[in-house]
Amino acid sequence: MDPVLGDCSLTSLRKRNSHKWRTYPPDVLPAFVAEMDFNPAEEVKNAIRSALDAGDLGYPHKGELGEAFAEFAADRLGGWSPDPHLVFAIPDVMTGIAEIIQALVRPGGGVVINPPVYSPFFFRLELAGRRVVEAPLAVNPDGSYDLDLDAIDRALTLPGTGAYLLCNPHNPVGRVWSREQLTAVADLCDRRGMPLLVDEIHAPLALPGAKHVPFHTLEHPAARRAVIFTSASKGWNIPGVKCGIAVAGDAESEAILRLRWDALLASNLGVYATVAALRRAWTWLDAAAAQIDDNARLLTDLLAQYLPGVRYQRPQASFLAWLDCRDLGLGADPAAAFLSAGRVALSPGPDFGTQGSGFARLNIGTSPELLAEAVRRMAAALPG
Ligand SMILES: Cc1ncc(COP(=O)(O)O)c(C=O)c1O
Repeated sequence: MDPVLGDCSLTSLRKRNSHKWRTYPPDVLPAFVAEMDFNPAEEVKNAIRSALDAGDLGYPHKGELGEAFAEFAADRLGGWSPDPHLVFAIPDVMTGIAEIIQALVRPGGGVVINPPVYSPFFFRLELAGRRVVEAPLAVNPDGSYDLDLDAIDRALTLPGTGAYLLCNPHNPVGRVWSREQLTAVADLCDRRGMPLLVDEIHAPLALPGAKHVPFHTLEHPAARRAVIFTSASKGWNIPGVKCGIAVAGDAESEAILRLRWDALLASNLGVYATVAALRRAWTWLDAAAAQIDDNARLLTDLLAQYLPGVRYQRPQASFLAWLDCRDLGLGADPAAAFLSAGRVALSPGPDFGTQGSGFARLNIGTSPELLAEAVRRMAAALPG
């Protein structure tokens, strides 16, 4: 592994107090929540240290965040040039989404999502008093996924539907949607007058060969109205410092975000860390993406060797592997068997919607050694 990522030694990792490393007892190898095992970038650690040295632990000011994000987006996110004034610091992506949904959709109204999808899309919308309207992804004969434009249009036209929440790159299936697919979505939302929120949190980790298309780079009126959510939290593995990014496309969404500034305070340390990541920690980001890409390839070999019944498409972005375990005979929730009999914790497929029955999500943001250990433990859980 590239030394900037550390060595993912279990002795060091088990000292962490994070959700990933404290949820299960020490005999369980955690590979569930979307937190990587790599060490943070030195640039990020130095930024947090300098904030501490300056005693700068007050309420946040977004400072250079807008400029830093605009520079990163221009160079690394497909030539997107957001106006820094329309870039807002938020505590995290899901809090931002929940706030904006409450502003845009009346209580009890519906929000369209594409399951199988990140589980908080279900429960955070429900906690916010809005209904989930499912437009499931289409499954291709080879097991890969696509947006189902007919299902999306049907969902958008159901009575009470008030917004569409799109995930790109998609968690858990790892797809980056093409410019054509995104333009088709924009057409549908425009035709139905539907507000659009796009979660692009995994975009900085587009893997070699894949091209993420930022929604705001579409030349389309629906794109300009869309609110985009992203963060350094996945790309640089810093969700604990609490700073996400919302990018408004027009004056209306800018006003919605401005009005809610007090509900959307990031952490000041998070702003420091995010600016440092976006401006200076590109070497680290490239090392992480290269390691994840190697791990994704290795996973294909490991599955062939230990679990040939599991089907898997390499992700185009990020460090989450969506495993079709339906042929293993472990029922709707194979992760339960992997945990109890194999002592390895994956994310249960059914948490991502009913479409996840028989699936499990494996976190591959780790060393090749720990990835191999996770697969060996999964295999050990098989009966006989
Ligand atoms: C698609 C997606 N959105 C949002 C989040 C959570 O981000 P945050 O911690 O900024 O709320 C995740 C975390 O894994 C995610 O995968």
